[in-house]
Amino acid sequence: MNLNNAVIAITGGAQGLGLAMACRLAAQGARIALLDINAERLSEAVELCDQAARKAGFGHPHAIAAYPCNVANEDQVESVFANIVSDYGQLDGLVNNAGVLRDGLLLKARDGEVTDRLSLSQWQTVIDVNLTAPFLCTRAAATHMVNSGRGGSIVNICSISMAGNMGQSNYSAAKAGLAAMTVVWAKELARHQIRVNGIAPGFIATDMTSHMKPEALEKMTRQIPLQRMGAADEIAHALQFLLENDYMSGRMVEVDGGLRL
Ligand code: NAI
Repeated sequence: MNLNNAVIAITGGAQGLGLAMACRLAAQGARIALLDINAERLSEAVELCDQAARKAGFGHPHAIAAYPCNVANEDQVESVFANIVSDYGQLDGLVNNAGVLRDGLLLKARDGEVTDRLSLSQWQTVIDVNLTAPFLCTRAAATHMVNSGRGGSIVNICSISMAGNMGQSNYSAAKAGLAAMTVVWAKELARHQIRVNGIAPGFIATDMTSHMKPEALEKMTRQIPLQRMGAADEIAHALQFLLENDYMSGRMVEVDGGLRL
């Protein structure tokens, strides 16, 4: 895919990895639809992407736009993707990036007695945003891509935690499910010239990881063979490759400094 002028929708684009990916693609001349539940940060993100595009010499008018929405809500997803296609006249790519954490052990016990359990709401929130939302967004985006006959490219942001990480029953299950759907969709949508890939980041410095306790961050960093956390733009770099390379489909690119859980 030639990114110059391509229209790419990025969920969770208001901050962190989503924003870094949007800025990198904008600097390649892509037009970006940023979807996020946080409307306030979304406007700042549009400004930052615009700056990245202008700095790289691209100045498509109205190239970057904000679409505030909850990507786990079916009605909102359907109408936002219809709006994107009507505003831009096309949709070439989708990055399923929005995600949340609600970590907790399945259960905690003291002196042989269970004292705490992972709640159903902790479970459901993570499944809704990290698993159901990519299903809803991919179904909506792929519908427009197939109807337009132009094909497209979809990238799912999974995680090293898909291998099964302690304290993350909900998140590991969602990301493993998203990795499986990456393969399913690559098989199902190839006939429509739609490629589907995934990225499994290791520990990347963003707001999501800044909430970890400093001791936990330090302990975790020591276990990474490259001895540092990743930078958001290193994930964006992998995304650019997956979007641009027209023979990549059905694969997971692991960008984790060599860490294995
Ligand atoms: P973040 O917490 O900084 O950003 C997530 C964004 O998603 C926020 O802007 C948030 O408002 C948005 N969002 C949350 N729920 C939403 C909803 N229902 N509808 C629309 N937007 C919603 O997270 P970060 O670190 O940028 O992570 C991005 C993706 O990368 C996530 O899927 C995460 O699981 C994954 N990831 C992150 C890693 C890291 O180390 N930061 C490692 C592995 C994977």
